[in-house]
Amino acid sequence: MPRPTMWTPQLQETLQLACRAPSFHNSQPWQWSVGADTVELHLFPQRLVASDSSGRQALLSCGAGLDHFRVAAAAAGWTANVDRYPNPNDHKHLATIDFSPMAFVTEGHRHRAEAIRRRRTDRLPFAAPADWDTFEPVLRQITGDTVLIDVLDAQARPALQKAAALTESARLDDSTYHADMHWWTSSSDSGTGIPHSSLTSQSESDRVGIGRRFPITHHRDQRADVQADDARIVVMSTYDDTRLDVLRCGETLSAVLLAATMADLASCTLTHLTEVPAGRDIVRELTGRELPQVLIRMGCTPADEEIPPLTPRLPLADVVTVRR
Ligand SMILES: Cc1cc2nc3c(=O)[nH]c(=O)nc-3n(C[C@H](O)[C@H](O)[C@H](O)COP(=O)(O)O)c2cc1C
Repeated sequence: MPRPTMWTPQLQETLQLACRAPSFHNSQPWQWSVGADTVELHLFPQRLVASDSSGRQALLSCGAGLDHFRVAAAAAGWTANVDRYPNPNDHKHLATIDFSPMAFVTEGHRHRAEAIRRRRTDRLPFAAPADWDTFEPVLRQITGDTVLIDVLDAQARPALQKAAALTESARLDDSTYHADMHWWTSSSDSGTGIPHSSLTSQSESDRVGIGRRFPITHHRDQRADVQADDARIVVMSTYDDTRLDVLRCGETLSAVLLAATMADLASCTLTHLTEVPAGRDIVRELTGRELPQVLIRMGCTPADEEIPPLTPRLPLADVVTVRR
């Protein structure tokens, strides 16, 4: 088998899968650079969301892309060895990856890569997860000691709803935030942004209660049988707030979302609750953690439901450069 760092169809497929990673507003703030022996991951400032002034969401997104890359490489028979922040003077150079051949590609490797093709952000209400007691230990094993995990149940709902409401009102006059929201939900032709088919109507959004408020769509009410969201909420917090912590948190976010997909759980990443102090303080109180980064709603969806199209991605040519 050729080494994957050569610009082979195998590496192109690996990068295609890596770019299926979730990203803030589907901004895809990554740039991959392919050399003779290594692949580099860089933060691409031109695709930063303006309201993400610290770049935290972009780093989380790139971390998710990095983990997706590793999963896709494993399914192709390669262990991706990741050196994070290899150049201390360049904080946009997030990782350099080299490869060693794997002894055997297992069913597990293949299934995880397959989950990349099925995973999507679902903003509709969920029924309660069917077999949470089996899933939670899996979740805790994945997260290990890179991030702290807390699972919130129905009792935390009122506080989370308050956090969502306070976040909304803190942003009423935030013109940059609303301009962003408008831009990233009306640019789906360009291969970035969130298409209307992935957004919710007023009634769907009300039944979830704690989601980010995107522009409302006017489609027929979906998943009407699920009257109120009964999802578990997973909160991921970091020990510290360095770039490396946030990047690794993004990698773990990817691992958690793929594990949920493999367990037939639907998921929706939520970060609005950690973006402004009023919301973040409530999440801090609920978890007892100083640095909550990401929340994920997880639950079940009706089995016979029509699955909407996947959100678009940029063509590979826009996010990959080949170093000569
Ligand atoms: C760091 C990060 C933050 C996100 N925040 C939210 C959010 O607050 N609300 C939401 O509905 N989706 C959120 N998402 C999901 C993205 O909007 C989604 O990944 C993107 O639109 C691509 O769609 P897909 O996940 O269906 O492929 C977030 C994703 C990431 C990686």
